[in-house]
Amino acid sequence: MKILITGSNGMLAKSVREKLKDNELICTDVEELDITNEEAVLKFVDELKPEYIINCAAYTAVDKAEEAGEIVEKINGDGPGNLAKAAKKADATLIHISTDYVFNGDLSIEESYKEDDKPGPVTVYGKTKLDGENNVKANTDKYYIFRTAWLYGDGNNFVRTMLKLGEARDSLNVVADQHGSPTYAEDLAEIIKKAIEKKIPYGIYHSTNEGFTTWYDFTKAIFEYSGIICKVNPVTTEEYIELMKITQAKRPHNSQLSKEKLKTVGITVPDWEDALKRYLIKEGKM
Ligand SMILES: NC(=O)c1ccc[n+]([C@@H]2O[C@H](COP(=O)([O-])OP(=O)(O)OC[C@H]3O[C@@H](n4cnc5c(N)ncnc54)[C@H](OP(=O)(O)O)[C@@H]3O)[C@@H](O)[C@H]2O)c1
Repeated sequence: MKILITGSNGMLAKSVREKLKDNELICTDVEELDITNEEAVLKFVDELKPEYIINCAAYTAVDKAEEAGEIVEKINGDGPGNLAKAAKKADATLIHISTDYVFNGDLSIEESYKEDDKPGPVTVYGKTKLDGENNVKANTDKYYIFRTAWLYGDGNNFVRTMLKLGEARDSLNVVADQHGSPTYAEDLAEIIKKAIEKKIPYGIYHSTNEGFTTWYDFTKAIFEYSGIICKVNPVTTEEYIELMKITQAKRPHNSQLSKEKLKTVGITVPDWEDALKRYLIKEGKM
C-alpha cells in the first residue's frame, strides 16, 4: 500500500514509519512538503497518488503557540485542510492526529470526553487544532481523526525530561491536579495500523492509552520502574507556575478521553502503566 507520511521526522511519525514499514512509504519533512502550501500539497498528492495520507505534521509547542502568531493556524488549521482537499482529489484516505486540548478540560475526575462532546478549546494550540479537525471534515468524507494526549516516544517528551531530572536531583515538584492519559507513540501507531487493516468506519476516535493519572503519579511510576531515587513533591498548577516563575498556556484539569468508540470497532489499547514499562525497556532504563 502506498502511504504518504507528512511531518515525518516528528515523534509520532517515527513510530508510524516503523509500524507501517512493510508498506510503500513516502516520508516528507517540511523541506520536502510544507503542508501550509496548498498548491504544493495538491500537486504532490496528485502526482504520487497515495492510498493513505497520515498527517503527523503540527505546531506542537503549546506555550510558544500563544505568542507565535499566524503560523500556528497555518500549520494546525490550514495544513490539514490542504491535505484533505488533496486526499479527496486523489481518492485517498486522510489520517489526521488531533488532541485532548480541543476540550476545555473542566470535567470532573470521574468523567471522560466522548468523541461527540462539544469542544471548547482555551489555548491557541487547542483552537488551531480544532480548526484543523473542522477543515478536514469540511473537505473530505474519507478521514480518520485520532485525538491523543500526553504523547511520548522517540523525541523530546515528559518521560525523558523526568528521567534526566530524576537522575540529577534529590527531589522534584510535579503538578498533581491535572489528569490525563499518557500515551506511548508506538501504541498510537498500532491503533493507526489496525484502523487501516480493519477499514474501520471513518470519523473521529479518541486514542490514548487506557487508564488515567496525574503528572505527579506518572512521575512516581517513571522513577519506580526505572529504579531512580528522587523524592516527588505534589504541587498544584498554581504553585508550580509560582515556583518556576513561568507563564503557561492554560492546561486542562481533566482531559481523559473515553475509548468506548474505539472498542466498538474492535480496537483495544494497553494501559498506560504497561506502555510506560515497554517504553522504559526500549530506552534502556528498566
Ligand atoms: N506531543 C504531544 O504530547 C501530543 C499530544 C496530543 C496530540 N498531539 C498531536 O500528535 C501529532 C504528532 O505530535 P508529535 O509530538 O509527534 O509532534 P512533533 O514531534 O512536534 O512533530 C511535528 C512535525 O511536524 C513538522 N512540521 C512542522 N510544520 C510543518 C509544515 N508546515 N509542513 C510539514 N511538516 C511540518 C515538524 O518539523 P520541524 O521540527 O522541522 O518543524 C515536526 O517534524 C500532532 O498532530 C500533535 O498535535 C501531540
